[in-house]
Amino acid sequence: MSSKRTTIFVCVSCKLAIDGHGNDFEKPGRELAAAVDDHLRGAGASGIEVRPVECLSVCKRACTIAFTGQNKWTYLIGGVDAKTHADEISVTAQRFAASEDGIIPWKERPLFFRKGVIARVPPETYRITEKAE
Ligand code: FES
Repeated sequence: MSSKRTTIFVCVSCKLAIDGHGNDFEKPGRELAAAVDDHLRGAGASGIEVRPVECLSVCKRACTIAFTGQNKWTYLIGGVDAKTHADEISVTAQRFAASEDGIIPWKERPLFFRKGVIARVPPETYRITEKAE
């Protein structure tokens, strides 16, 4: 595993309607962050921090999270279910941490990741290669 640090940002401002009319909401971000942290501890993962964050500006895709790490692509992901995705987020974070550049092969990405990716942002050190242009 890479020794570089990985952070999972979890939006704690995201609101989900709980009454079907948009009048009453829950904010499941803190519950999600705690559940992901529990799974990581249970797996004995190290070098991965779960960090609550305020709005990631993707409020219509609650809950939103981001995987980020030094010299790695950052992935912003929406539509995460706090009640069912914590374990998959933990496993994905470990794969992200183990990767050189943050890119996880498609077949290793769980469904929440495949369906939920909103953006990926290159690391600050990124420079395009002639081959990619
Ligand atoms: S409130 Fe969570 S992305 Fe805006």
